[in-house]
Amino acid sequence: MEEIAALAKRRGFIFQSSEIYGGIGGCFDYGPLGAILKRNVKQAWWRQMVELRDDVVAFDSSILMNPQTWVASGHVAAFHDKLVDCRNCKHRFRADQLASLEKCPDCGQRGTLTEPRDFNLMMKTSIGPMEDSASMAYLRPETAQGIFVNFKNICQSARRKPPFGIAQIGKSFRNEITPGNFTFRQREFEQAELEYFVPDDGRDMATYEQWVAARKQWYADYGVNPGRLRFYELKDNERPHYAKAGIDVEYLFPWGWGELESIAHRGTYDLDAHMRLSGKDLSYFDEVSKVKYTPILIESSAGMDRTTLTMLIDAHNVETIVEDESKNETKRTVLRFHPQIAPIQLGVFPLARNKPELVARAQQIERTLRPLFRTQYDEGNVGQLYRRQDEIGTPFCIMVDYETLAESTITIRDRDSMKQVRIAIDQAPDWLHERLQSP
Ligand code: GAP
Repeated sequence: MEEIAALAKRRGFIFQSSEIYGGIGGCFDYGPLGAILKRNVKQAWWRQMVELRDDVVAFDSSILMNPQTWVASGHVAAFHDKLVDCRNCKHRFRADQLASLEKCPDCGQRGTLTEPRDFNLMMKTSIGPMEDSASMAYLRPETAQGIFVNFKNICQSARRKPPFGIAQIGKSFRNEITPGNFTFRQREFEQAELEYFVPDDGRDMATYEQWVAARKQWYADYGVNPGRLRFYELKDNERPHYAKAGIDVEYLFPWGWGELESIAHRGTYDLDAHMRLSGKDLSYFDEVSKVKYTPILIESSAGMDRTTLTMLIDAHNVETIVEDESKNETKRTVLRFHPQIAPIQLGVFPLARNKPELVARAQQIERTLRPLFRTQYDEGNVGQLYRRQDEIGTPFCIMVDYETLAESTITIRDRDSMKQVRIAIDQAPDWLHERLQSP
């Protein structure tokens, strides 16, 4: 993990937030490559969950909502972790993460830990010029509630009838007691949530199973190692009382299994709760059957920072290779990203940076390919150029040499096999498209 965090910083994937001031717990910044990586992860989710479906609509709700939202959802009353303080070293812990309450795990003192007490994870802010209880608002701890309170607006404006889904990606905030494991547990993070509403016609569990299968397929399509991924079915005592079924999608991180996503059958709990407190009708009236009902909800809620971290860890390989020229063994770090996830898809270099004719041709080829792929022009020592692109996970690199000038051919080097092929320049777009644009 330390190696990956160091690589993430060195290559501009992830930085500690406000690092020059000593950082701030549980917040991270995405650097030039990380910003593209995370955007690609979100786009991969959006593509499959919204764009390629005709039964899911897009949505984007505000982070600040009327605080009553969080009373209805149950977050005010119950979105708690149990907090324990050490009276000696003043460190704080989550009670469920402590082996025992007898001894402080940090300072080792016995009898210094307080009794566990409820700690609400919602972050507060105030709205408007007066800071009083009337101006208090929460930063949303999940994006889903924005969807529930808008159910009627969306149904009517998009002319949708269950079964159909509403999807959004956005920031959420939780005042985690113990943020950590790099970007795994943060205080500010992004969620991608799909809320799928179904009629109460006996097919709700089948729909739930279809979503579990669709999410399995998503992870497979983007190449997440199936041996490090599991779909953990929650037992009755591990689910909220209203949930009929639930699965945690987990990845085997360097510190153990960690949750990437939760998929749940939430019954009518959320819409019922908002109807009760707001007094507004969020049920659906079916014009054909003349039946009015509260739709059942199937939810898929995935963390985009955790998925991005998973892509980074899963892609990371350090391998021993034999140098072509010297035949010496050397180590190579390579990120084997799926081509759609890779921040840069194609590196383009001249064979020598002090040959203006090669530089000009390489730059021209890069500009031609830029509208088609995520490209990067670079120049320098050829071995180092390849090594740098391997480390940021670029699937292919094009080398422009004297044969390019004489015969209009280029070599394309494959990141994974390190093999090179020579092809005509005008075949390059199709050749690359075939290998970079699936699925
Ligand atoms: N609406 C349902 C919901 O929010 P959740 O299991 O609490 O469910 C869903 O959160 C996902 O959000 C998690 O599986 C995880 O990927 C992500 N997530 C939750 N807390 C997080 C945190 N502190 N840091 C990063 N990601 C987090």
